[in-house]
Amino acid sequence: MEKLTGHKKIKTAVFISGRGSNLDNLIKFSNTKKSPIIIDLVIADKKALGLKYAAKYKIKKKIINYKNNRIAEKKILLILEKKKIKFICLAGFMKVLSANFIKRFKEKIINIHPSYLPKYKGLNTSLRALNNNEKFSGCTVHYVGTKIDSGKIIIQKKINITKKETETSLDKKIIQEEHKLYPAAIMKIFN
Ligand code: GRF
Repeated sequence: MEKLTGHKKIKTAVFISGRGSNLDNLIKFSNTKKSPIIIDLVIADKKALGLKYAAKYKIKKKIINYKNNRIAEKKILLILEKKKIKFICLAGFMKVLSANFIKRFKEKIINIHPSYLPKYKGLNTSLRALNNNEKFSGCTVHYVGTKIDSGKIIIQKKINITKKETETSLDKKIIQEEHKLYPAAIMKIFN
């Protein structure tokens, strides 16, 4: 991964579909002096709640019509090029990026997932972990590969599941850890 030169931060886009708590957290992180990235663009596949953070911090946002994946990705690639985006953070983005798209940003797209991968890829990770009486779950930041929730792991954190754990309480613990883990992953990549 390229090293930082001088004080120039890497132009980054965050892709979202939902609430956007990781987006909010990443923007706050990127505004710190130590951050190697600067968030210049937010992409959403619909009118996601999290877009309010783009407005709050005056970051350009784009909602992409995803009726046709290929056309949607073509549009996104054009915008990324225009904005000179060099790095992409997926944060609750619910669309699967094509192999072609990933190739264009090889090892430059990362994702956060609410489980201790490779366990529990996909959705409803906390509920499935609880139903299987797991002793721990976690969260993982990984490079985006062509298969869902696969790709080289950058950093991950185990989170204990207590006897009284519910899906809500576990989700809450995980999202709190995610907000520490995502910036830590970015620091790890660029330093
Ligand atoms: C997070 O749990 C993340 O791990 C998963 O989607 C959720 C997004 O949450 N990929 P938020 O929209 O960042 O609040």
